[in-house]
Amino acid sequence: MTSTGTTLLAIETSCDDTAAAVYAGGRVASSVVASQRVHAWFGGIVPELASRAHQVLIVPTVDAALAEAGVARDDLTAVAATYGPGLAGSLLVGLSFSKALALGLELPFVGVNHLEGHVYSVFIDEPHPAFPYLCLTVSGGHTQLVLVEEGFRHTTLGRTRDDAAGEAFDKAARLMGLGYPGGPEIDRIAAGGDATFHRFPSPRLAGYDFSFSGIKTSVRYFLEALSPTERDSLLARHLSDLAASFQRAVVDALVGALRDAVRETGVNAVAVVGGVAANSGLRAAAQQTADTDGFSLFVPALPYSVDNAAMIAVTAAFKLAAGHESPLTLQAEPALKL
Ligand code: KG4
Ligand code: ZN
Repeated sequence: MTSTGTTLLAIETSCDDTAAAVYAGGRVASSVVASQRVHAWFGGIVPELASRAHQVLIVPTVDAALAEAGVARDDLTAVAATYGPGLAGSLLVGLSFSKALALGLELPFVGVNHLEGHVYSVFIDEPHPAFPYLCLTVSGGHTQLVLVEEGFRHTTLGRTRDDAAGEAFDKAARLMGLGYPGGPEIDRIAAGGDATFHRFPSPRLAGYDFSFSGIKTSVRYFLEALSPTERDSLLARHLSDLAASFQRAVVDALVGALRDAVRETGVNAVAVVGGVAANSGLRAAAQQTADTDGFSLFVPALPYSVDNAAMIAVTAAFKLAAGHESPLTLQAEPALKL
């Protein structure tokens, strides 16, 4: 599907991670992510700070990716970057840098949709699915279930109508007094907790659509119904039970949708990608369902579930092999869809 002669540098700066990767010899040769710590102080991403941090981090991150791959700038045969969706100021840094590099080195440039990057992240390592496969993307900004066919054709089966799954984890964590990003915190604290402690409403709607704002509100109402003393005492004694109950409600809804989609479409290869795919409860439940229902499950290794540039590199290599190049006039598209 891809050419082993391609030596490609890919850059991803759509949100708060400055990432660069090199694809060479038909595989990902390096993947470097510089996470911006500044946002933890504010309990969420501050767009202006993200953009400024990308400007500081982009050159060292690219240099590290090239060095780790043992590739010199002159060895490159193409340059790629995410052009959307994401924060405008953040996207601009990686996109402008990549276009300038492609122009300077007189190389082809490939713009990649970040969501396509997540969908093709299952091709970074072996084994990977064959087409068609069902892909559940669950990240901080997106939650959608698509049927992926060869040739960059995707059919959307369902999506969230409000918050993304990762956003729900982050907001629930904040209500529980946990740090940011909240997903990994809830995951860690939920281990050993009693998931039957509290029954939260299911985020699953009709078909394959979801709504995560209800479950977030229900965490808030549950805690606000208590006096400050009762709340402190409950969080002291039952934080892990509360986290486990929340996680169970989200995981059950996501895995239930996967099971139904496999039955309805007859497609028995399933990918779960995006930051929330790092969740240990989701990984375990999806694998258990795959085993009982007889479908193959593909989940990228942890560094390739959360935002990274390796997924942009692999997607760009597919695009190049299919003859897709982008003009240097390509603009950032903050609201780009899959
Ligand atoms: O894909 P990603 O790195 O960035 C976006 O494109 O949004 O996803 C980030 C999201 C955050 O909301 C974070 O809390 C969530 O993924 N996340 C997790 C876990 N690790 C990251 N959520 C639940 N459990 C985890 N272990
Ligand atoms: Zn992402």
